[in-house]
Amino acid sequence: MTRTTRALQCSATLVAAGLLLTACGSSGGSGGSSGQNAQSTSFTGRGPITYVAGKDTTGTIQTIIDRWNKLHPKEKVTFIQLPTDADSQRQQMIQNAETKSDAYTVLSLDVVWTSEFAAHQWIDRLPDNAFPLQNMLKPVVETAKYRGGLYAVPGSSDGGLLYYRSDLLKKAGITSPPATWSEMTADCAKVKKLPEAKDMSCYAGQFQKYEGLTVNFSEAVNSAGGVVTDASGKPDVDTPQAKKGLDFLVDSFKDGTIPKEAITYQEEDGRQAFQSGKLVFLRNWPYVYALAQKSPIGGKFAVAPLPGLNGTGSSSLGGHNLALSSFAKNKATALDFMKFFSSEESASYFLKNASLAPPYTNLYDDASLDKQYPYLPVLKESILHAVPRPRVVQYGDVTSAIEKEAYAALSGSKSSSQALKDLQADLQKLTAQ
Ligand code: GLC
Repeated sequence: MTRTTRALQCSATLVAAGLLLTACGSSGGSGGSSGQNAQSTSFTGRGPITYVAGKDTTGTIQTIIDRWNKLHPKEKVTFIQLPTDADSQRQQMIQNAETKSDAYTVLSLDVVWTSEFAAHQWIDRLPDNAFPLQNMLKPVVETAKYRGGLYAVPGSSDGGLLYYRSDLLKKAGITSPPATWSEMTADCAKVKKLPEAKDMSCYAGQFQKYEGLTVNFSEAVNSAGGVVTDASGKPDVDTPQAKKGLDFLVDSFKDGTIPKEAITYQEEDGRQAFQSGKLVFLRNWPYVYALAQKSPIGGKFAVAPLPGLNGTGSSSLGGHNLALSSFAKNKATALDFMKFFSSEESASYFLKNASLAPPYTNLYDDASLDKQYPYLPVLKESILHAVPRPRVVQYGDVTSAIEKEAYAALSGSKSSSQALKDLQADLQKLTAQ
């Protein structure tokens, strides 16, 4: 296709879509721009900006920002760290948007917030051609889209993994990690017969009442063959399959497979417990790998796919994308920084130094990286088969309803059947709006 025909096709598509654009097919650099509804967004203005994300538990983000700042002394990026839990991050970002503040420029947006932020026009639509999306895993790119438009660029992906004490399993005569929940409990009983493991707990995930619970609840439901919402987005959680999933968690709390204190666990609490030798199995994200290797259990653990009811389970699709606040200044700088931060080079740095899941397909197929991170093929599968959480504009209300009912069941204040019945009713109300 010649450049002229491409440009013509490009403007025809854009006019048909009702978009007023100033540059189509540009490299998306400082002059690149794209539309958002009927408005045009011009990525102009250069100068200092901010990058806003949850607290950096990996300690690597500032290094990449320092690299940028060294190269761009007049367009420095200041890193604003928000709390570790996703719900507080969302609240603070929404507050910033509602007051139309320019304090936040580039947002590290949880993959589940794209629709909500895009629909409210809190973030700008981005030029698709500014980023090498074709080199990224497809389901990961989808998380950055809303109604076909690109509103963010994948930064890091996330897939749930089962961390296990390979040293103890081996000592107990177990040759491969469990594929099902019942195998996991049986393995645990064998491990606990070892004198050094008698005080250990079997399993933990994230069960505090926050986004992590939505993830763990959804994974349990999906791993038992149920769904929270069906393929068309309709809630369908009051089913025998979903009950089996929720019951795995409820029963595990009741019989002590999951220790009582795990009802307060977020990601970091579980990581600390695993690293200090309190847990045989842990459900967590890839970032734990690099940190745990440097801990007292370094070399004594391995990673497997999440277990399920009758076979391997499925993960919720997690991760963070970079989005541009609609109210920010210096958008030309912001777009360049987003390209830099989401580049394959940065993703490779984050993988090598913080074991973050890269969005780039080829980083999973690199033999030298697989040597450092032998779980990469498992992670790639986990991401490719992960189930997205509901893609809805009112995601905040949907996740609060899930958190509330799942927490009621896990803490024993409601039966699992009642919790699922109430959740189904809540979700029906929310999605009918
Ligand atoms: C991780 C995931 C994110 C998820 C959160 C829940 O940060 O990347 O998608 O919402 O954990 O705690």
